[in-house]
Amino acid sequence: MSAGSILSALDQRFFDPVAIGITRDGGWFLQDGNPDLLRIIAGVVPEVEPGDRPVVLSADPTVRSPGLGDIDVVFPVLHGPWGEDGTIQGLLEMSGIPYVGSGVMASAVAMDKATMKALFASAGLEVGPFAVITDRQWRSDRVAAMARASAVGFPVFVKPARAGSSQGISKVHSVEGLESAIETARAHDPRVIVEAGVEGAREIECGVIQDESGVPRASRCAEIIIGGGHEFYDFDAKYLDDSTTLVVPAELDDALEAEVRRQACLAFEALGCEGLARVDFFTDPTGAVIINEVNTMPGFTPISMFPRMWGASGLAFADLVSHLVRDAQRRGTGLR
Ligand SMILES: Nc1ncnc2c1ncn2[C@@H]1O[C@H](COP(=O)(O)OP(=O)(O)O)[C@@H](O)[C@H]1O
Ligand SMILES: [Mg+2]
Repeated sequence: MSAGSILSALDQRFFDPVAIGITRDGGWFLQDGNPDLLRIIAGVVPEVEPGDRPVVLSADPTVRSPGLGDIDVVFPVLHGPWGEDGTIQGLLEMSGIPYVGSGVMASAVAMDKATMKALFASAGLEVGPFAVITDRQWRSDRVAAMARASAVGFPVFVKPARAGSSQGISKVHSVEGLESAIETARAHDPRVIVEAGVEGAREIECGVIQDESGVPRASRCAEIIIGGGHEFYDFDAKYLDDSTTLVVPAELDDALEAEVRRQACLAFEALGCEGLARVDFFTDPTGAVIINEVNTMPGFTPISMFPRMWGASGLAFADLVSHLVRDAQRRGTGLR
């Protein structure tokens, strides 16, 4: 859906898009690039089907990729493992093709909620209490793992370390629900993180892009207000029903907004992000700012937070897309 939105907004005076779809099985196929096919219709999320024009991206920069021709920049509008976690970024590095967004390391770190928190903490950002349960720990000493998870303090959020879109996440109020929540998270990722729930949290987000000199710039902030009986911002609240209110720009006092924007840029640099990121925070009733996560390829539809926050900051959707493509060209590939 994000890819469809970017395709329709892309300024065709400057750019000549080649749409590539990846199927569930990992097959790559040239697409017509018709954005109308990339929308939710009657609650059904669009899927890429195998086509008759397969493409291969060569890892050898001296070999032209069969079926692709010359590509100047790739915009990897992909969420989650294999798309947002440094793996495809690694392939693009190997092939010598510049790409929008973060490189291998920042993408990988931002995909792993446990490693990401370690880097936030070392940059002086406040992260709440948490515990990590690896596959080996869960299988070899479940009692100890349960004890460490309980020690975080209820309520907790149990999450796959490397997922997204709230998949596999549960809020757990007492030890009774803990084991099944861990198993639910493990269905997505054998590595699990258990985090202290922030009580009375407001969910505040901030967009970051780099300017022409590479300096991170923060957008106005936005707030997510969850309604409709959702206990937290789960998959349905994110994509399927309209019970959630997005307030852009967020109603924050000036000092708090400035602090969130400062921390957003700090987080961007702490992870070594490039291009763009959406940085998500909680604020609690005492005014504390607790960082939740960085998304290196945030949702990118006209109703998504990232482009809306930039819109509220004076950068229109199509101009944001142009800026990001040029930013990728400026950066190029290789150590930088
Ligand atoms: N520690 C927490 N305290 C309060 N709410 C949380 C916490 N962690 C997650 N949530 C809720 O769960 C949602 C999804 O969690 P998040 O870590 O952002 O995962 P994802 O990467 O899937 O977006 C958040 O938007 C928020 O509503
Ligand atoms: Mg999130």
